[in-house]
Amino acid sequence: MSLFKQAGINIVTVPVFSWAKLQPSEDVFDFEWLDKILDLIADNGIYACLATSTAAQPAWMSKKYPEILPVDIEGRKRKHGSRVNFCPNSRVYRKFSTELAKKLAERYENHPALLVWHIGNEYGTYCYCDNCAEEFRTWLKDRYGTIEEVNKRWNMSFWGHTVYDWDEIVPPSYLNEMGKGVFLGYPRDYTCFQGISLDYNRFMSDSSLECYKGEYEAIKSITPDIPITTNLMGTFKPFDYFKWAEHLDIISWDNYPAMNDQTSNIAMRHDLMRGLKDGLPFMLMEQTPSQQNWQPYNSLKRPGVMRLWSYQAVAHGADTVMFFQLRRSFGASEKYHGALIEHVGHENTRVFKECAQLGKELKALGDRILDSRIRSKAAIMFGWDNWWAVEFSSGPSRELKYVEQIEKYYKAFYDLNVPIDMVKPDADLSKYDIVVAPVLYMVKAGVAENIHQFVKNGGTFVTTFFSGIVNENDLVKLGGYPGELRKILGIWAEEIDALTPDMKNSIVMKEPVGNLQGGYSCGMLCDLIHLEGANALAVYGKDFYAGMPVLTENSFGKGKAYYIASDPEQGFINEFIKYLCYKKGISSPMMVDEGVEVSQRFKDKREFTFILNHNNFEVSIDLKNMKYTNLLTEKAAEKMISLGPKDVAILERMLE
Ligand code: GAL
Repeated sequence: MSLFKQAGINIVTVPVFSWAKLQPSEDVFDFEWLDKILDLIADNGIYACLATSTAAQPAWMSKKYPEILPVDIEGRKRKHGSRVNFCPNSRVYRKFSTELAKKLAERYENHPALLVWHIGNEYGTYCYCDNCAEEFRTWLKDRYGTIEEVNKRWNMSFWGHTVYDWDEIVPPSYLNEMGKGVFLGYPRDYTCFQGISLDYNRFMSDSSLECYKGEYEAIKSITPDIPITTNLMGTFKPFDYFKWAEHLDIISWDNYPAMNDQTSNIAMRHDLMRGLKDGLPFMLMEQTPSQQNWQPYNSLKRPGVMRLWSYQAVAHGADTVMFFQLRRSFGASEKYHGALIEHVGHENTRVFKECAQLGKELKALGDRILDSRIRSKAAIMFGWDNWWAVEFSSGPSRELKYVEQIEKYYKAFYDLNVPIDMVKPDADLSKYDIVVAPVLYMVKAGVAENIHQFVKNGGTFVTTFFSGIVNENDLVKLGGYPGELRKILGIWAEEIDALTPDMKNSIVMKEPVGNLQGGYSCGMLCDLIHLEGANALAVYGKDFYAGMPVLTENSFGKGKAYYIASDPEQGFINEFIKYLCYKKGISSPMMVDEGVEVSQRFKDKREFTFILNHNNFEVSIDLKNMKYTNLLTEKAAEKMISLGPKDVAILERMLE
């Protein structure tokens, strides 16, 4: 407790993996040890983010009720062990986990330490057992009503798959539709039936969500005013977090970048997590104070990096900065994972001192920044089922990775220090001037209409190759690509060419567009498009489709819609986004050097400008004679401010 206090720790997450200790057998519960811990932390002025401990069931439970153990995608019944190793449709799991959550809520309802609930931990299981198969059929009945509709939605006449009875439907796994390894040239998970696999992903995401909701409801009925969360994982592919977010009172997530992760990618994940609840602040639930244990190379966070990345989270909307782990465990897989308190056990370590320094600063900031919001005029569309569908696709290219495409367009805004919201395809777009939807392959019902309204009312919309192709079941919208987006974009894509990694084509500007002029490299996929009202701003430079449009602009209502028909080099995307921002009057709040990130949050009449120097050298920023207070030094700042390597400033200013 004394070390926690020295480090400025005012909230601890307990007990995340203690189910076996809390419930040593079916009818015996033991909360006394937890009472002591919670009393101790409360006595020391520390709050609890109270975890329900349900991410790893006790061994006795798996032994007595083997149905709780999942079956993996290869059809193997799993044995007890590891964590998040339960079938999400197991009635036994749901009954016991809900019961434990309820007991914890009853016991600690009025405990002074209780501040927020943390259900489970990093949900993420897919299961293929018979019980899941049964539940899948029920889920399908609810969604589609009849077996005929299922046949239609999945195009089951292909390869003679037509089913006549519900129990003929089986989960797609490596034993039937799906596979790993090289199949038709695809060295990754593939599926022969995208429609079935997509729905199974949706169903699995919903299945774990049901587990979470069971606990949520049990807790809510007892402590209605205490917020509830579960820790998410950023761009975690298996679950549709937009759907999950509807059931979380506050978003929380675990940020574990690799040392060589681009800072723009880290920022994008924060923005995605903030976007889950339409811009509300989130909790940074976990980050390591120093190194991880599960990456191939677990480098130390260099001096200053933990502080810098903590403020980066805050700059993008985090209202907490929390760590895993507080004290290094001494056995099993996380003993080499960084901690506030290292194995040596005292405070005289680099890591402890850096954490304590951060703790002091956050304490001094108090609640000034809490609940402030980010104001973005530009957004990037992101959709989980679009992600699944793009990467389930058999063709045209195995190189196409959805998140990489998102990252490229995000980076263009990030490098300009233009704030971005990450939004779902059916989000309210009316508050934005620019919306970019990279590879919007799947256009679900209502999405084209949403984009239509946005552009009609003056918005600038950008989408790229391989967009507008399928509906929510991965069935192609017949009548020409890009399907429902064809009119908005004013083009028809007749064919899609896939280039090998060593093949390139080029984008040749017809005339300068902003700073874009001359030629740029592009590759991977090339849509062969015809103009149907749009203007060609650039054409392909090579191959039999040389001279066909590759960048188009279409005026639609009061707005404009752009199509980028291939995968361009980053430099092209940067300049193109810069041009669009310029046209819409969107600019960085400050002119800074490369490697310096600027992000703003607003509250009442206050503006907070975060300046983050990711460089290993000092930088100076011209404040243009504006009067600020640097909240981290409590000093006035105007004219110039210098920031050392990895240093941060938070400049406060009153708005008129
Ligand atoms: C998280 C998890 C923690 C810990 C950490 C290690 O995924 O929630 O319990 O395992 O990773 O990095």
